[in-house]
Amino acid sequence: MKQFRIAPSILSADFACLGQEVSRVIEAGADLIHFDVMDNHYVPNLTFGPMVCAALKPYATVPVDVHLMVEPVDDLIQSFAKAGADIITFHPEASRHIDRSLSLIADAGCQAGLVLNPATPVGILAHVLDRLDMVLLMSVNPGFGGQSFIPHTLEKIRSVRKLLDEYEAQSGRRIALEVDGGIKTDNIAAVAAAGADTFVAGSAIFGQPDYRAVINRMREELAG
Ligand code: DX5
Ligand code: ZN
Repeated sequence: MKQFRIAPSILSADFACLGQEVSRVIEAGADLIHFDVMDNHYVPNLTFGPMVCAALKPYATVPVDVHLMVEPVDDLIQSFAKAGADIITFHPEASRHIDRSLSLIADAGCQAGLVLNPATPVGILAHVLDRLDMVLLMSVNPGFGGQSFIPHTLEKIRSVRKLLDEYEAQSGRRIALEVDGGIKTDNIAAVAAAGADTFVAGSAIFGQPDYRAVINRMREELAG
């Protein structure tokens, strides 16, 4: 039985009561809390930083999955690790020294991941697999919730799945494959079939009044 994880993105939650939103979505079955950090520089939008992460940490009884859409990344890695991040991912285009940034995350005691935009080549993973706990594939261009899933990213998920399976066979290490953007109850099964094991969903969950109903429906779709 495959282990699937659902990671609600609080980007689409009610910002006026984020603590309660985190609690509610965990009660509804969230496996991770996905925390989208945007800086109005790497992406054309601005969200929240380490202070908000630290304030939410007591509500987060599941791992906090921090997606950094910021440039540069290195200073914020330290701050988010102190603020309670469990997983930190960043975009390779936003780091001058990818290997160093990944090491900083590991040294801070967090799991590390790289995020590939829809047009970022998969080859960038080749020399860093030993440093990765997760690969995050964007299925929309980063910056906003509520966009539509880009269909050709399914092929990319398949090729990264193949790469990670080959790496696992040779190293014995499993690297998680997370997909982010436009995931809904009606496409999550196709994304899983392409090889993803971790699913970010923002508007699909927080856009509905009953979070549990959406998450249960996603799990039914994943069970086939
Ligand atoms: C986009 C963010 C996503 C976003 C997903 O830059 O990284 O995590 O919140 O939102 P939906 O699920 O609405 O596409
Ligand atoms: Zn994200």
